[in-house]
Amino acid sequence: MKVTICIGSACHLKGSREIIQKMQQLVAANQVSDKVDLNGAFCSGNCVNGVCVTVDGTLYSVSPETTEEFFKKEIMGRL
Ligand code: FES
Repeated sequence: MKVTICIGSACHLKGSREIIQKMQQLVAANQVSDKVDLNGAFCSGNCVNGVCVTVDGTLYSVSPETTEEFFKKEIMGRL
């Protein structure tokens, strides 16, 4: 599963760094590093809502507060 987190400037301001760190921790804690491929990407043109995170091509808006929930639902829930 390919997970791409936007590190463009708008998303950076909304906490993409924090989200990446949390995601890395969650991947390690759940021992799914062989299944989840975390990547950074530049602006994907969807800065309006929250930090833009793409899971296998599907766009989501995530904030640092919702990262854990997002991870459980959209990542762990689909592995
Ligand atoms: S800066 Fe993240 S989608 Fe534009």
